[in-house]
Order: sequence, then C-alpha cells, then structure tokens
Amino acid sequence: MSIARFAAPAPSDGIAFVGGQYVPLAEACIAITDRGFVRSDATYDVVHVWKGRFFRLSDHIERFHASMAGLRMSLPYSRKEIADILHECVRRSGLRDAYVQMTCTRGVPPLGSRDPRECENQFSAFAQRFVWIANEQQRREGLSMIVSSHQRIPPEAIDPRIKNFHWLDLTMGIFEAYDRGALVAVLPDRDGNVTEGAGFNVFIVKNGVLATPDHGVFEGMTRRTVIELAEELQQPVEVRPVSTAELRAANEIFLTSTAGGVMPVTTLDGKTVGDGQPGPLTRRLHDFYWQRHDELLLSTPIDYAI
Ligand SMILES: Cc1ncc(COP(=O)(O)O)c(C=O)c1O
Repeated sequence: MSIARFAAPAPSDGIAFVGGQYVPLAEACIAITDRGFVRSDATYDVVHVWKGRFFRLSDHIERFHASMAGLRMSLPYSRKEIADILHECVRRSGLRDAYVQMTCTRGVPPLGSRDPRECENQFSAFAQRFVWIANEQQRREGLSMIVSSHQRIPPEAIDPRIKNFHWLDLTMGIFEAYDRGALVAVLPDRDGNVTEGAGFNVFIVKNGVLATPDHGVFEGMTRRTVIELAEELQQPVEVRPVSTAELRAANEIFLTSTAGGVMPVTTLDGKTVGDGQPGPLTRRLHDFYWQRHDELLLSTPIDYAI
C-alpha cells in the first residue's frame, strides 16, 4: 500500500496568481533574478477580506497604482482587472477572512544588463488566511511595545509612502522587541520622533486629543480610516510630529493595521500605559472600525459561487 507523503495543498491554504495563472500558494514562484527578489525592487499593497467582503478595495488598488508610479513601474492590467484577479484568488480559496496581497516586481533584466528600464514589470497576487499582528488575547488586553534603538530609514532616502520591501530596520525592531520581552517595536526617526513599526501606524491619545505622526511613515489605510472615523465622532485628531517623550506620556496608545485593525498598547518599554487597560477612545474606535466592515459603503462582497 502506498502512502502519499505530501498532502496536496487545500485551497484554503492560499491561492496565488503568478505568471498569468492561478496556482496553490505553496507552489507560487517568481524568478530568482527578478530585481524584486535580489534588489528589493518592488512595491505591494495588502487589502483584507472580512466576513466575505473586501474592505476599501478600490482605495487599496488606487494606492498600489500610486506606489507603482512612484517607482516608475507599470503593468498591463487595469484597476478593474486587478480587482477581478484579487476576487478570483479569494473566491478560489473559499476564505471568508483573508489577507490579500498584490505585488509588482521590477522583473528580470536581460542577461548582462543592470538597467531597470529594460525589465518587464511583473504582477503577482495571493490570498491567504487572515494574518494578525497580535493574537486575540493581546488585542483584547493590550499589546506590549518598545521604542526601538533602530531608527526608521529616513524618508529622504526611501519614501515610506510607497509601500516597499525595505523592511530590515523594521525586522531588527521585531527581534529587539522579542529580546526585550515585548511583542512589537516602534521605530524613532533621527530627531526622536515616533514613526511606525513592522506593518502598523501609531496613534496616541492625550487629554482627549488624538495624534499620529505626519511624516516618515506609510500612510496606512487603517490610519486613514481611523482619522475619518474620528472626524465623524467629532473627535479632534492632530496629524503632526509626535515625539517619543509624548508617546511615553500618553493616556492611550494604539496601533493601526490592515492585519489587525485598531490594537491597544498597554505597556511601553515595560511601563504601564494609562491605567494599563485599553483606553475608552481606543475601544470606541476599535468597535467603530469593525462596524464599518458591515456597511456596503466601504466594502465589496465576494461572489464565491462559480
Ligand atoms: C511600514 C508600515 N506602516 C504602516 C502599515 C499599516 O498600513 P495599513 O493600515 O494600510 O495596513 C503597514 C502595513 O503593512 C506598513 O507596512
């Protein structure tokens, strides 16, 4: 009796679109000489699917195009065709909650060439299970964060508004957080202002006023949503430099990400933030953010039928 040594991947393990084909995520490959791989010469965007609906899909695709334009990349796909491909990845996976990435890599240069203009830009995408920055208990009780000793790459060197693969500063921050017994790290800039961390933006609340850094950060979709929700709640938001001293003196701190929504931080560098519980404004914005997912205004339902 022969026993299959490897089970075939299930659709719910993820579906990718690469080289113009839909394939199981585990089998998706790109050329190792693609500059996206050897030079981090790539841009991407991540949109999530929640309860069978994309959240802000057209805004994510618009931002993806802006990132491509910033890197002088282009693809033969229209916005509608990209949306259709992402839908198809999710539909084939059958996932109701999913993490969906679209990527444009520079492509493979002709042999002997190092001229990025000679590459044909490549599109790939995938849908996989929802990826969370923090688990359910951490999201409920609050995350532990450190202020990293690693500085964020300055925006004058690499524009962080273009979503990019230059993650080594953020990755070193993750290791430092673990070494110091925390879950996440926020990186300062060279002037001692707060920037962001691996996959998230940062907000503080002080005396009832929200503040989030204005520069040196990726302008996250969740950050944008929170600013809009706060305005609806007539809750003042300041988009301005936020110093690490202000972060330490905040009444509330929360993080925003497509990979988790609004997440409270209850310890910073081992010290309690506020009273050590997720703050009232953080909880309100958290609830409001997830409620928004049920409204058709910002969400696009997926048709799972074949
Ligand atoms: C560096 C960085 N900052 C912030 C964010 C949060 O952006 P969004 O809310 O669009 O997920 C991300 C998302 O991956 C990121 O990579």
